[in-house]
Amino acid sequence: MPQKETVKKMFNEISGRYDFLNHFLSLGIDRLWRKRLVREMIQGKPEHVLDLATGTADLAIELLGQSQIRITGVDISEKMLAVGKEKIAKAGLSSSIDLISGDAENLQFSDKTFDAAMIAFGVRNFENLDKGISEMKRVLTKNGKVMILEFSHPASFPIKQVYGVYSRFIIPLMGRLISSHPSAYRYLPETVAAFPSGEAFLNIMQQAGFKDCRRISLSGGIASIYIGTKPD
Ligand SMILES: C[S@@+](CC[C@H](N)C(=O)[O-])C[C@H]1O[C@@H](n2cnc3c(N)ncnc32)[C@H](O)[C@@H]1O
Repeated sequence: MPQKETVKKMFNEISGRYDFLNHFLSLGIDRLWRKRLVREMIQGKPEHVLDLATGTADLAIELLGQSQIRITGVDISEKMLAVGKEKIAKAGLSSSIDLISGDAENLQFSDKTFDAAMIAFGVRNFENLDKGISEMKRVLTKNGKVMILEFSHPASFPIKQVYGVYSRFIIPLMGRLISSHPSAYRYLPETVAAFPSGEAFLNIMQQAGFKDCRRISLSGGIASIYIGTKPD
């Protein structure tokens, strides 16, 4: 698992280019994946949602566009948060959301504070995945939902092969050229390959004590939304 200080430094360094590169390298598909998660989230009509590893707040902004909800967003990178705060102010959403600095693996909130938690492309960066997942559970109320959007491993031809070439060669090259960061976009395919996907990730959620765990596969398995419910 990556080291927290390295992750924080890397996201601070790429914060100014993060949004552009995200949408450019995913051909805009990351927006559809976040929308899909938001569709699931609003079905449960939560009132106070925690957005972990909120970064530049794209997921939080998407959710606020669909529903009148209160959101708390947390991230370890001050510079990602600064970009997010600017976007939120521009969108006139500042009264519905708090963006605060914090560590998802050691949350500053009391038990049972939120009735739902979400995280997009964040869990893969955790230094200690089990700790991060158990913290999500701790701060949820009974029957609270967790929704985790993350890259996964596509299994079928030709998506597996095409995406394999794209993520191993094109993303690192374009990412390096545009962000001028030597390693940030090599980090992406390396961490995705090493990260549990599909059933393996659902098992981790179940072992952490979530019930009714299920997966929504996106774009042939390039990404997945994992959903679980806190039983007590
Ligand atoms: C790939 S970005 C995702 C940002 C955003 N959720 C999105 O969908 O674009 C990953 C974010 O996770 C944050 N992060 C990594 N480890 C973290 C931790 N332990 N606690 C809080 N944030 C963390 C990074 O600072 C970064 O902003």
